[in-house]
Amino acid sequence: MLSFLCGIHVYLFQVCTGLKEIGVGVVGLGNIGVTHVRAFMNVKGAKLLAVVDTIRERADSIAKMYGLKSYYTLEDLLRDPDVELVSIATPSYLHAPQAIYAMEYGKHVIVEKPMAVTLKGARTMIDRAKKNGVKLGVVFQQRFADDIQRLKKLIDEGALGKLFFLSAEMMWWRSEKDYYFKDELARSWRGLWLTEGGGAITNQGIHYVDLLIWLGGGRVEEVVGLIDRLTHPNIEVEDIALGMFRYAGGHLGSIVATVSVQPQNAQYTKIKVFGDEGCAEIHDRNLAVLKTVKGIEAEVKMVEEGAKETLRQPPNLHQKMFQSFVDALLEDRDFPIPGEEGIKSLEVIKAIYLSSKLGQRMKLPLDIDMVI
Ligand SMILES: NC(=O)c1ccc[n+]([C@@H]2O[C@H](COP(=O)([O-])OP(=O)(O)OC[C@H]3O[C@@H](n4cnc5c(N)ncnc54)[C@H](O)[C@@H]3O)[C@@H](O)[C@H]2O)c1
Repeated sequence: MLSFLCGIHVYLFQVCTGLKEIGVGVVGLGNIGVTHVRAFMNVKGAKLLAVVDTIRERADSIAKMYGLKSYYTLEDLLRDPDVELVSIATPSYLHAPQAIYAMEYGKHVIVEKPMAVTLKGARTMIDRAKKNGVKLGVVFQQRFADDIQRLKKLIDEGALGKLFFLSAEMMWWRSEKDYYFKDELARSWRGLWLTEGGGAITNQGIHYVDLLIWLGGGRVEEVVGLIDRLTHPNIEVEDIALGMFRYAGGHLGSIVATVSVQPQNAQYTKIKVFGDEGCAEIHDRNLAVLKTVKGIEAEVKMVEEGAKETLRQPPNLHQKMFQSFVDALLEDRDFPIPGEEGIKSLEVIKAIYLSSKLGQRMKLPLDIDMVI
């Protein structure tokens, strides 16, 4: 008992004096894994210790560049006692098994979106975090963009009145040649139901499904969907998805997510929020429109028109998000986006797929055994 109390005192002392640092390992060093590495290098209270990739040269070169240990298997990372937090950025089908494995070793886990390719996988992850007394967080870095946080605050303060409609358009481009079939690694998981879990709305559009749910009050009750593959003949998954939903508050929402907009045309993302006292629009990540009957009209930004880069993510949003996760760990609070939040967008997306397939409206929560 005495040694337990002493332990707590030492821990609190370390946290308060900034001496306690959470040891971190990043798994998967592709497009976004390198963003995790760069972001964690700047997170206070975290010490990035190691990276893992099955492509050995990748692991070794990133480890050398940032002065880290390199591993080629998740198991070797998990055996490292200094690693307390594992950040997973591997292909989507590996998220659930790797997260569950890491939690069995008592590690806290942050996992890229989609948190799993099946609802069953996602629910098992949530259960396993509870059972093992570790924290599970899901990456939705767009929530940390300044203007999106500002809009969330305005909505929560009632500046737009009672919401009646939210919508999102994600009009992007991903080519078969340079994205889905770019190389052996891309061909091994992109564009396939079992490994990517879905197409435009699962891999890219999930960010906007998450934002619509979060901005709209957190709970969707009913979903109608339609998906198709219209411009990418050689992939299995959809390249366009439309969803309509009813929130628990009675208001409505809609989304279109596509990767079929040719790059020479404008690629863009828009989120629109309408309440009975005002409306707002986010264009890409900027608050571009804000009007209310009370005359609150914030400085709004002119957003550049034209072709945009939508593949690379700026590391600053990941950094902000990881900082808030690490702060939560150090203060023993829940992660700001725990598994229970991460699963919401996945469930809405699965409902869009089921609705499209069955030609029916889907009520949430879904029957887990109906969903692949
Ligand atoms: N948050 C975002 O904005 C964002 C952006 C891009 C990708 N993502 C998500 O991140 C994940 C990875 O996407 P990506 O584009 O970086 O993929 P990628 O194919 O470019 O990279 C995946 C990496 O994981 C490695 N890997 C594969 N199996 C492994 C294993 N068993 N153990 C360790 N490493 C392994 C591969 O060698 C590769 O380096 C996907 O789930 C994707 O949806 C999120």
